[in-house]
Amino acid sequence: MADSTEIFDRLKQDHDKHRQLLDKLKETSGESGQREALFEELTKELKSHAAAEEQALYSTMLRKPPTTDETRHSVAEHHEIDEALNDLAATDMSSGAWLSKFKEFDHQYRHHIDEEEEDHFPDFENYLDDKDREHMERVFERRKDKEMDEAEVTPEKKEDAKE
Ligand SMILES: [Fe+2]
Ligand SMILES: [Fe+2]
Repeated sequence: MADSTEIFDRLKQDHDKHRQLLDKLKETSGESGQREALFEELTKELKSHAAAEEQALYSTMLRKPPTTDETRHSVAEHHEIDEALNDLAATDMSSGAWLSKFKEFDHQYRHHIDEEEEDHFPDFENYLDDKDREHMERVFERRKDKEMDEAEVTPEKKEDAKE
């Protein structure tokens, strides 16, 4: 099983970067250029991570019936994370509402990555063979860069999000 940790280590590296970005954003204030730049970096990083994670890891796990529930749960959370990021982008950054929404998002996102690391990844290890591992590592590295190039801040209020 030793080899299987490579993809999970890589995903955890991204998660640690996300935690650092969230910490930095919490220290910014008002409508500062710094808050805007960090929020753009966070949005692109989180959207591209989730997309590449789905293409590499979750698409593989969907082929393993015992993990269907966990996979559906995580992918549904990715959608909620996207909506929350778009809602934040559509909210005035200098307002108190932005900061309270951001704190709520911070909590929601940390819960998502903690659950992946503590519950899902260790369980997924039980169902992977060498071919799966090799496939996931390759797909993640290739797709993460590509998704990063295409990721965007797309403001949309939660109440206007159709799906
Ligand atoms: Fe995720
Ligand atoms: Fe993740």
